[in-house]
Amino acid sequence: MTYLTVYTDGPAPETLLRTEDQAEIATSLKEIGVRLRHWEIVDGLDGASSDDVLAAYRDQVAAVVAEEGYTFVDVARLGPDAPADVAAAARAKFLNEHTHDDDEVRFFVAGSGIFYLHVDGKVHAVFCEPGDLLSVPKQTTHWFDMGTRPHFTAIRFFHDDDGWIGDFTGDDIASRIPDYDTIAAGR
Ligand SMILES: [Fe+2]
Repeated sequence: MTYLTVYTDGPAPETLLRTEDQAEIATSLKEIGVRLRHWEIVDGLDGASSDDVLAAYRDQVAAVVAEEGYTFVDVARLGPDAPADVAAAARAKFLNEHTHDDDEVRFFVAGSGIFYLHVDGKVHAVFCEPGDLLSVPKQTTHWFDMGTRPHFTAIRFFHDDDGWIGDFTGDDIASRIPDYDTIAAGR
């Protein structure tokens, strides 16, 4: 289940909140316009083909597509067996603060990753795990850390093929906030 840590965004960030209470997390995220929902987990999909993953969640995916008008859905994955340079390159891609012209909507089928949402002087670090569907609205300032040993399978939803290209802010805040490995080790 989801684990949320909230930090101040100054030169020496302080921890404001640390919780696994799902209702508290949903409320906290709603205040910054981010939606968190949970789907029942289908087991045995870690390492499954994209077609099998999408088939297992067919009804849930169709409902989100119908509600939000997404036109493209795919499955992203990275396993612990990925070569170190592949893992490092994938991690580096969205490790700095950025925005997108499209929503960033991810359902975690397996594994985990942290979305850091930088809004109103705070950083919400949302540790996503299987069953979590996180909807980050377009233009929300954020970054994503999959850790030094990435392991996740996630369904992604898009309005268009180009909307997810990152527009980087140049702010080095990601280097001041605890990373995936640190937060995972501290749970
Ligand atoms: Fe992003």
